[in-house]
Amino acid sequence: MKTASALTLILMAGLPFSCRIPQAVTSTPSETLQSVSPFPVGVAVGSDLLGKDSAYREIVLREYGSVTPENEAKIECLHPREREFDFLAFDRILDFAGAHGKRVHGVALVWHDTSGLGWLRDFRGDAVAWERMFKAHIQAVVRHAKGKVRSWDVVNEALNDDGTLRMDDETATDHLGSIWAKHLGRDYIARAFRYAHEADPEALLFYNDFELYDPRKPKKLEAVIAMVEDFKDRGIPIHGLGVQMHVGLSADDAGIADALRRLADTGLMIHISELDILVSDWKKDAALINSDELQRRQADKYRSVALAYKRAVPPRQRYGITVWGVGDAHSWIPGNFGLKDWPLPFDENYRKKKAYEGFLEGLRR
Ligand code: XIL
Repeated sequence: MKTASALTLILMAGLPFSCRIPQAVTSTPSETLQSVSPFPVGVAVGSDLLGKDSAYREIVLREYGSVTPENEAKIECLHPREREFDFLAFDRILDFAGAHGKRVHGVALVWHDTSGLGWLRDFRGDAVAWERMFKAHIQAVVRHAKGKVRSWDVVNEALNDDGTLRMDDETATDHLGSIWAKHLGRDYIARAFRYAHEADPEALLFYNDFELYDPRKPKKLEAVIAMVEDFKDRGIPIHGLGVQMHVGLSADDAGIADALRRLADTGLMIHISELDILVSDWKKDAALINSDELQRRQADKYRSVALAYKRAVPPRQRYGITVWGVGDAHSWIPGNFGLKDWPLPFDENYRKKKAYEGFLEGLRR
């Protein structure tokens, strides 16, 4: 430190006044994911870790231009009882982002996954009461975050694999119904977009779903595109599509690029909204070791996903790529699926992995 400031003084003494800025003698800051990328690069964060873990915070500050609250804006976190909102954890993220100039993408105003919410499961009321509660939830959250959240996933995962609407009955192919579809009727998605737009006309509104690039589920992709066309015809405000990307090493790059291209043809913004790359390739193997070979393949996949995005999505439609977590220690994958895995660009000790280098290369302008 001492040497550096002495050097600074010596160098500055020889410079004309207008050049006397400290940056003239510091080394070029090293590249970061955000600094090399022509579009926003984001990360899903937790308010808890942001508050207590300085290494975690450091990575978010240095590497990413956009943040998504991993859970804090979901109904289960901020709407614990029918007449009670608790914005504390969400606000911590909004304050952090505001203080450091990070864009915030919010998830998700409406999602079928409400299993932890007793009051919602037990909610009794006619269609009017359901509609009032649905609208009140969306608008309370959007108004609270107005001016702080740039964009929202308004509805998340509303479609089945075969492109039909996820319902709360046996027609749901994965048996995970939507309490919203059941009580609000088929057109609830459109109304969610209208309500969100009413509450904050400046916010950009996205529909978000998973495996839209899966060749075994072509009807899901078609259904999303048809929904967008229908919304456009009816003047429903929708601005973007979120493509979750929880993929394994064997994911097909060409298939991903094709799907992104088809989605971009709608003219909406395209967000790779939840990226992580599973070295397990979704296979349960308690003996799996994160070998050099797997790490190299993971790096290749991070690179190729970023390249596919750049190839397929025209620059003005690139809302960005968001990675689903900071480091492997906190990834949702092992806990949620009982898999041994290391899906993120930073390891358990927040060291950059080969995956980081691959991602950086893919993002570079
Ligand atoms: C996940 C979070 O990462 C977990 O911490 C939580 O337990 C469940 O939700 N699709 C989505 C995300 O749209 O919101 C999910 O996030 C992952 C799958």
